[in-house]
Amino acid sequence: MRITSSGLSADIDLDAIDLFDPGFYATGDPHPVWKLMREKAPAHRQTLPDGRSFLSVTRYADVSTVLRDHTRFTSRRGTVLSVLGGTDPAGNKMLAASDPPVHTAMREPLNRVMSFTALEAQKPRVKRLVHRMLAPLADGGTFELAAAATAFPMAFTGLLMGLPEEDLDDLARLATMAVAPEDAMFQEGEVGENLVTAHHELFEYLAERVGPSAGQDNLIGYLVGMDAGGRRLRHDEIVFNSYSMLLGANATTPHSIAATVLALIEHPEQYARLREDPELVASAVEEGLRWASPANHFLRHAVTDTEIAGTPVRRGEAVVAWIGSANRDASVFTDPYRFDVGRSPNRHLAFGWGPHYCIGAPLARIALRLLFGELARLVERLEPVGEVEHLTSNFIAGIKRMPVVATLRAGADEVLAAANEENRVPR
Ligand code: HEM
Repeated sequence: MRITSSGLSADIDLDAIDLFDPGFYATGDPHPVWKLMREKAPAHRQTLPDGRSFLSVTRYADVSTVLRDHTRFTSRRGTVLSVLGGTDPAGNKMLAASDPPVHTAMREPLNRVMSFTALEAQKPRVKRLVHRMLAPLADGGTFELAAAATAFPMAFTGLLMGLPEEDLDDLARLATMAVAPEDAMFQEGEVGENLVTAHHELFEYLAERVGPSAGQDNLIGYLVGMDAGGRRLRHDEIVFNSYSMLLGANATTPHSIAATVLALIEHPEQYARLREDPELVASAVEEGLRWASPANHFLRHAVTDTEIAGTPVRRGEAVVAWIGSANRDASVFTDPYRFDVGRSPNRHLAFGWGPHYCIGAPLARIALRLLFGELARLVERLEPVGEVEHLTSNFIAGIKRMPVVATLRAGADEVLAAANEENRVPR
């Protein structure tokens, strides 16, 4: 979806807006709509032609409440709009689709291996993957940034999960199909079939990897052996959680990269600041996350009759927390439509809030900081050489095509040539 900087919201009829329509995010711009909702309709109910309905919350305070308060808003019935009106087979089996205490029993042991400290040792390997990603820039030709940004997280997830390198391209394709089944670029059949095919192939693949053959030194092996509140996870729970890790990393990280690069291209003075001051890398990454909000929404269902934003919510009703909107809320962010690589404070909700706060956030931050640190060190300027195309999805705010050319900085040739050499060696 486009990311406007004006935030103007004139002439919008909220009743005519379809926030469910995946196409709206491919060609439209939800930001002016969300701005109007934050101002005039902070809890907005939409009913689909088939009778299903959901309540949208758009203010920072309400989005964080819905994401955090599992006593009023459960994750067990699924957390994305695509499950609206149905049930989630992963309910109570997968981290993302469970509530405490079931959730806590799975989450605590996983926190130990997904922390900054635990992942410190991975940094040199992730940095090599950054160089491999940027290596093609050396030839000065067109670089398909969106494709490169898709391959990079799959490479570091592969490392983490112990997946064979030759499977990664296929897994990246299936992961995008699973989160954007409506997008023609990833279509392999009818829309409905696409989702089923992606799920079937991913689950079949992961089910085969779960077991003693998973090995000890990777995340799947850890899930097999870990103590989840006094018991081992069952086979189906391990498969669901492996799926969640794979999707969690690969549905979101590519789009954070592409949207941040696009913002840096559109705001060259911000890229200049970053190039000149490597100390800004961490805050630039956070601003990129706020700006992109790659996980556009998460869904909950009301556990009891309750209220949000002064509006009654019926027991069982679906409530959508629009993260992309919360991250532009002027009551929290000064001048929210300004892209500022030095923004501080920046308490964005791109990784969610509360018990489900993204467990992959430390890994994502390590990878994004290494990537943008190296980009600023090696690349003087990036220019678009074709149209930027956005993903058709109400869940992932994504970029699927973004051809660019780069002007390199002094010394970059050597680094990238070494990485190119490494890319040529079969692994
Ligand atoms: C830029 C990158 C990422 C973004 C924007 C992102 C965003 C999010 C958000 C918003 C949530 C909260 C979901 C909810 O409240 O229901 C979440 C949860 C989760 N993420 Fe991420 N994520 C990213 C990277 C990753 C990575 C690298 C991994 C895995 C290695 C991952 C795995 C997960 C998992 C398993 C959960 C569920 C956690 C739980 O329910 O306790 N994510 N992510």
